[in-house]
Amino acid sequence: MFEQIERVPGDAILGLIEAFKKDTNPQKVDLGVGVYRDAEGNTPVMRAVKKAEDRLLNNETTKTYIGSHGAPAYGDVVLPMVLGADSPVLNAKRASATQSPGGTGALRLAADFIATQLPGKGIWVSDPTWPNHHGIFTSAGIELHKYPYVDADNRLDFDGMLAALKKIPEGDVVLLHACCHNPTGFDLSQSQWQEVLDVLRERKLLPLIDFAYQGFGEGLEEDAFGVRLLAENLDEAIITSSCSKNFGIYCERTGCLILVAKNAEQMENVRSQVAIVARENYSNPPAHGGAIVSEILHDAELTALWREELTEMRDRINTLRRDFVEALRPYGLAEKYACVAEQRGMFSYTGLTPEQVDRLRDEFGIYMVRSGRANVAGFSDANLPYLAKAIAAVNE
Ligand code: LMR
Repeated sequence: MFEQIERVPGDAILGLIEAFKKDTNPQKVDLGVGVYRDAEGNTPVMRAVKKAEDRLLNNETTKTYIGSHGAPAYGDVVLPMVLGADSPVLNAKRASATQSPGGTGALRLAADFIATQLPGKGIWVSDPTWPNHHGIFTSAGIELHKYPYVDADNRLDFDGMLAALKKIPEGDVVLLHACCHNPTGFDLSQSQWQEVLDVLRERKLLPLIDFAYQGFGEGLEEDAFGVRLLAENLDEAIITSSCSKNFGIYCERTGCLILVAKNAEQMENVRSQVAIVARENYSNPPAHGGAIVSEILHDAELTALWREELTEMRDRINTLRRDFVEALRPYGLAEKYACVAEQRGMFSYTGLTPEQVDRLRDEFGIYMVRSGRANVAGFSDANLPYLAKAIAAVNE
């Protein structure tokens, strides 16, 4: 039977990892998949994580199942991290946390929850969005639509976005990126979030907020502005949070699905449904990543160290954004790529065309997603002159 099955090209983002490994160009630069890199191009284990793991190794007494919602100790620290230490939502017991295999796992839980519990509701995603959003929601059987997000001049198209949101059928789901929009790096301002809230409320739309990069934009609290605004001012919201990135524990797949309901009673109802969805997908989430996060966030000293390391990462990325634009100045391209310094998070929608991206790969060994998305953390003092020269060459 398998002889009828066709081979398909691999995932466009993950495929870059293999392609980059195979390239023998000594000057090659990896601006592909969204992982943080230090000045040497490595993705080291954070010091706070190492310390937490030492403790876990010494103190672990069992590897039994942790339950479909995951470890309660993990939910206990993630909820205040996402919703705020003194959140009215938490005080009213309106939010439920379900540990998941990464932010992607949380999105998959959200998709199955919507498909089974809110049948017939469509989902609206930004154009562009993380390509995997398309696959996750359509494979769950949800109809997917797009709202504009970037204009032809590679700027945030907030007017276009808002106008489109105003036309979405009542009750549909709107996927928003909390911060560090993937792939563009264009984030909403606080007043723009307020306008989005007004439309969601008016149109009775359900927000699904993807929060994969908390701490990489402006700060842990600042990046949560939109999430908290919507959770506190709407009856219902879905949040998919990731600790895989801000704790640098990518391979431990550490995420959380947070459902916000109108009251504690309804929260328990939806929570019971999420347990079934998790059970049917993978039963129980893997424990280790969540254990690392709760070990750190239950300890003041480790929390301080982790925050310091996260700040270092964020500052480095934001400095590199400015340095990139400066490196292009001698080529007369600083204006053209000025948006890179304004965007936030791991990614930049550079405005490079697919053809230019192909040339950068083939002629210079520089790898990025064909949409022109670059992982800014892949820039370094050492490779910026080379990158600038290559970008100038493909702009001639
Ligand atoms: C990315 O967009 O590069 C990351 O979110 C990794 C992934 O899974 O695609």
